[in-house]
Amino acid sequence: MSTIVINGSPRGVKSNSFKLAAAFLDGAGITDYEVVESAKLDVKPCAGCFGCWKTTPGVCVLKDDMAGVLGKLKAADLVVWAFPLYYFSVPGGLKNLIDRQLPMNLPFMTGEEGGGHPARYDTSRRRNVVVSTCGFYTAEGNYTSVDAMFTKYYGDFEKIYCGQGELFSVPQLSSRTDEYLSHVKRAGAEYLRGGITPETRRGLNELLYPKDAFEKMADASWGVQKAEDGVVVKADESLTFVRQMAALYNKANYDKDRVIEMNFTDIGKRYQITLTAEDAKVAEDNLTAADTVITTPFAVWKAISKGELQGSEALMQGKYSVKGDFSAMLKWDEFFGAGKTPKPQETSGFSKRASLLNGANIAGAAAGAAFLVSGANDWFLFGLELFFAAFWGSSVFKKVPITCYFSAGKYGGEKMLQNPIFTRTNRILTACWAVEYLLMASVFAVLEFSNAPSWLGSLTYLPAPILGVFTAWFAKWYPARMARGRA
Ligand SMILES: Cc1cc2nc3c(=O)[nH]c(=O)nc-3n(C[C@H](O)[C@H](O)[C@H](O)COP(=O)(O)O)c2cc1C
Repeated sequence: MSTIVINGSPRGVKSNSFKLAAAFLDGAGITDYEVVESAKLDVKPCAGCFGCWKTTPGVCVLKDDMAGVLGKLKAADLVVWAFPLYYFSVPGGLKNLIDRQLPMNLPFMTGEEGGGHPARYDTSRRRNVVVSTCGFYTAEGNYTSVDAMFTKYYGDFEKIYCGQGELFSVPQLSSRTDEYLSHVKRAGAEYLRGGITPETRRGLNELLYPKDAFEKMADASWGVQKAEDGVVVKADESLTFVRQMAALYNKANYDKDRVIEMNFTDIGKRYQITLTAEDAKVAEDNLTAADTVITTPFAVWKAISKGELQGSEALMQGKYSVKGDFSAMLKWDEFFGAGKTPKPQETSGFSKRASLLNGANIAGAAAGAAFLVSGANDWFLFGLELFFAAFWGSSVFKKVPITCYFSAGKYGGEKMLQNPIFTRTNRILTACWAVEYLLMASVFAVLEFSNAPSWLGSLTYLPAPILGVFTAWFAKWYPARMARGRA
């Protein structure tokens, strides 16, 4: 299928709209296509002379790159029109290209409602897809004139219009924008199979972020602020950055009022973000006592938020430190995560394994107790506890130690496995539990040899609740200790 993309963005292939067009074609499995960059071509505005209709039929009097574009348009089976919305319409350069299609039509009237001109060439096999991003929070209501133009000129065409377009250029937000691009990709695949399904369309119509959050983020992103006299001046980069972060605050995950301080050592600036049930406020002066203080070079923090550096890894390497309430760090993604509020991951392999292991653990403990009460043979109980010790002990050396499965859910699920602090903490806890099972097994062995009364075996269960309390405490204490640089 001969395919061209007419890219109307002056940003070329780095454009937000082009990213969507490329995802659409990727999904459709079309890798062989030509990109016509209208902003880079010499396509003059139409002279309005009608020379292509009356003097040199089908040929424009202007000599520039448009002749080549017309040739490509004539030959194409699929044309993807990719462009940003400019003043509720297409960018000027693309409008010139669209106007200069006049030679593709004959001058006669078709007699249709509202008026029209017939095609000069048979392009009936050609399919058109319009892909566009715009800067407002929604595409809804903003594409009236684009719709009218393409409907009038091309009749039936497929379209993907997306608001909050600038977010596709923000690496920190890629978890959400990639999710949107995956809908676009699916739309591409479905388009060739007969049409975009209502389910995919729902994903395409969903806002990237709620209106309020997006508008706060957008306002903070320009790097300018109103001075006291109302004049707009350039804002400090680090302040802009902290404001953008605060704009991402997901108050649905509020747990208590918190003051988080960012102490940027390389530029000598301190800011505080106060999280409340209502919002996140940024302060640059009149700072109070903070609950959590993050001390870091600004460069490091910027790299982390761009995804160039893994936050937890950088923390372990001592590239920044955290003092005070460490729980803010463990809940960081819930507060400022760029993705949407995570949906319960019932279907993921990780959560299935977690509930299976949880179930097995409870069943194992219950079975052990039942065997003990029923006066089972000490050797049997020895074997059972030894099995647990081996199972937990071997897990210490695995990529995901077993207690990760029990505690990840508390901190945002499977993605915690990427956090080396979390996995290291759990490796230690898994080892502690393996030792506990080994001790239990040894007690049963001793009981067997010593012929002591077997009810004594029940005492082996006593350390378990203590270890449970220790586990809860250690899971908080150890990461905080690491954050202070004392691991
Ligand atoms: C001159 C100009 C006019 C714009 N007009 C609108 C507009 O009318 N409505 C809108 O929502 N966004 C508007 N925008 C924002 C762009 O549509 C938005 O930033 C888009 O994502 C840019 O996409 P691109 O990277 O593909 O060029 C305008 C931007 C510029 C530079």
